[in-house]
Amino acid sequence: MSRILENKKVLVTGGAGFIGSNLCEKLLTQNNHVVCLDNFATGKRENIAPFLSHENFTLIEGDIRNINDCTKAVDGVEVVLHQAALGSVPRSIKDPITSNEVNVSGFLNVLIAARDNGVKRIIYAASSSTYGDSTNLPKVEDVIGKPLSPYAITKYVNELYADVFAKLYDMQIIGLRYFNVFGRRQDPDGAYAAVIPKFVKSLINHESPTVNGDGTYSRDFTYIDNVVQANELAATTDKLNAINTVYNVAFGERTTLNELIGYLQRYLSDFDAEIANVEIKHGPERAGDIPHSLASIAKAEERLGYQPKYNIKSGLKEAIGWYWENLK
Ligand SMILES: NC(=O)c1ccc[n+]([C@@H]2O[C@H](COP(=O)([O-])OP(=O)(O)OC[C@H]3O[C@@H](n4cnc5c(N)ncnc54)[C@H](O)[C@@H]3O)[C@@H](O)[C@H]2O)c1
Repeated sequence: MSRILENKKVLVTGGAGFIGSNLCEKLLTQNNHVVCLDNFATGKRENIAPFLSHENFTLIEGDIRNINDCTKAVDGVEVVLHQAALGSVPRSIKDPITSNEVNVSGFLNVLIAARDNGVKRIIYAASSSTYGDSTNLPKVEDVIGKPLSPYAITKYVNELYADVFAKLYDMQIIGLRYFNVFGRRQDPDGAYAAVIPKFVKSLINHESPTVNGDGTYSRDFTYIDNVVQANELAATTDKLNAINTVYNVAFGERTTLNELIGYLQRYLSDFDAEIANVEIKHGPERAGDIPHSLASIAKAEERLGYQPKYNIKSGLKEAIGWYWENLK
């Protein structure tokens, strides 16, 4: 039985984003008081619109680059689920300074505000990009390569700061290295959109999705509810060997982009048979991309009791109705 996070005051930074809004939604059903700190850089007001009327939801419109905003947000908070960051490898290649300011300096502000206000535990979004140029498969937490992008550097620096803060200031901090998360409310638009909502939107609109490369690159696609479960487990564990470390958060299977497109066409065809016939285009490989990614989830299973419920197919089946209603 999975432990749940309940009856706590929880800060979700980046709570108006894809992952953050799913965390807020789940926490509100479990009698938590949820504080959402977001500057809407990439998050959307519509993601949190249903929560605004909830008596246990507080929105602080602010920026993690501002320590005063962070201090205000942690007031009385017992757990921080830190999701705010500028995602996307290409975004960081185009503008490394802003990615660094948000993802590194902002992270440091959140840590300092938490430290100075007695927050018991911080769970933060780390990233599979930290494996960098390592070709080992499956990825195990202790073996990483060199970062391949400014984004990957920022996420690795988070891990280094977390480790040092835990030791120096006696804090409880856990990093979750997410692997290609997908599900409801993930943004399909813009140059930095993630691959699944981008492909879904193209297919629904009968436009050819463009696959970078020949489609044989593979990823460990992770359904959002598995990520929510990992956050709850990390926030509630009382095992000493489970804290002040990092975990892979994935399903533990890899799927090529060609297979992914096949699933999407099959599941979306239930809504519109024409989608099965949409042609797929192929473009060049993207800078900073590694060919294959697959997580070992053994550490999270053993220490946190993580048991992901959804693989790529069952996750897509859960999400497909939302995609159809919202990405048309
Ligand atoms: N989605 C994935 O596959 C994935 C994979 C690995 C790691 N992550 C990490 O998970 C976290 C959440 O990602 P997501 O996919 O939900 O992205 P997202 O862009 O939907 O959410 C990020 C949220 O942070 C907010 N934000 C950005 N800069 C901010 C700032 N300066 N101050 C306050 N809020 C700010 C945004 O407005 C947005 O609401 C990020 O830290 C990301 O790096 C995501």
